[in-house]
Amino acid sequence: MKACGGAYSPQTRRKHFISGPQWAAGYRGDALFYAPTRQAIGFEEIIRRYGELGVGYWCTHDSDVIVTEALGKEEQWGVIERIKTALKENGVQCSMISTETFHHAVWATSPASEAPEVREYAKFRLKNMVKLGHELGAQFAVYWPGSLGYYVQGAVEETNTLRWYAEGLNAACQADIEIAQHRGAPTLKHCLEAKPFEPQAEILLPTTDAMLGFINSGLLTHPEMVGVNPEYLHELMWGAAPRAALARALLCGKLWHFDINDGYRLKHDVDIAIGLVNPLDWLNVLVLLRSHGYQGPFNLDFKPPRTTSNSGVWEVSFPTAVDRFITLWEMAGEVISDPVIQEATQALNAGGGAADPHDAEAVTAGYRELLTLHELIAHRLVQILLGLHRGRTYSV
Ligand code: GLC
Ligand code: MN
Ligand code: MN
Repeated sequence: MKACGGAYSPQTRRKHFISGPQWAAGYRGDALFYAPTRQAIGFEEIIRRYGELGVGYWCTHDSDVIVTEALGKEEQWGVIERIKTALKENGVQCSMISTETFHHAVWATSPASEAPEVREYAKFRLKNMVKLGHELGAQFAVYWPGSLGYYVQGAVEETNTLRWYAEGLNAACQADIEIAQHRGAPTLKHCLEAKPFEPQAEILLPTTDAMLGFINSGLLTHPEMVGVNPEYLHELMWGAAPRAALARALLCGKLWHFDINDGYRLKHDVDIAIGLVNPLDWLNVLVLLRSHGYQGPFNLDFKPPRTTSNSGVWEVSFPTAVDRFITLWEMAGEVISDPVIQEATQALNAGGGAADPHDAEAVTAGYRELLTLHELIAHRLVQILLGLHRGRTYSV
């Protein structure tokens, strides 16, 4: 790492709204075909390490820190006190909380199961999550529905399932309104996260666009409290242009939270750290968000690879992910103020000025040369990514 150089200081890292998930740092490298490769670590160490690195925000699923059996019971508050102490001691804030509605056997038919008692249990967990979120000072709640879908066809009636899923969210929003009023605090921002495949074969809300449609379906009693948490890789997985998916959420005023990571199109959810696969696309994503004044969290929802050791998680994985994000963010600023890109964009926006805008030939001819600027802009973006715009050369 010393040989690599170029690291940002913890103070600089703390200037960004970057959050570190409990589950990302706690991931032990296990998966369907994989045994764990790392030792377990608890929230006290994770929060301390994030604080030392300059990751100023932490987030968690309820069951990452409190055993399922204790959730909603008196004993959960002892853990919450320990979390609050760890956060305070390390200058870290809790930004977001999520209900785990995918791992435990109770969710085999999703939180919107046909069985009313499963749905009742889901409401209990969601309302409890809201309570925990307020107690920890979180601003956001994230919902990844996980098993909302099916393996075999015909057994699940989609419209019922979606109605039942909405009931859970409605219960969470209602509880939030009451708790917020009682505490004199603002309500949480409730953010839906989509994933196109895994853990079910067919997913009922597979994309951020599907989530936006769901928010506006009329099923939610408080659609104004609900936005989206797109994950970069989850959009790429189904073959989307993540930047276009983000643009659509921005236009709806619903882009409130963003999971940052990387990976490949049409593959499973590899959760690689930001910028290791698609740095150019990431630069463009951050140009869009910077130019639209996105103020929400950048959540490090990646998984350190199995090949990385316990110490490597802290010495390499997290600091390099944070630093690539900051560099790309700074580069995005350079793109926005780059004189070549500005001039090219202005020329494109000014148009070719055809004498007769109803004459196809004249319109085409007037704009023909200008369109070459698309490729010039793309070249300039690569120059900025590679540092060539600052005079870096490869001729020797
Ligand atoms: C799970 C998902 C992750 C999501 C998180 C939030 O860990 O894998 O993508 O962001 O839940 O609920
Ligand atoms: Mn995610
Ligand atoms: Mn993912």
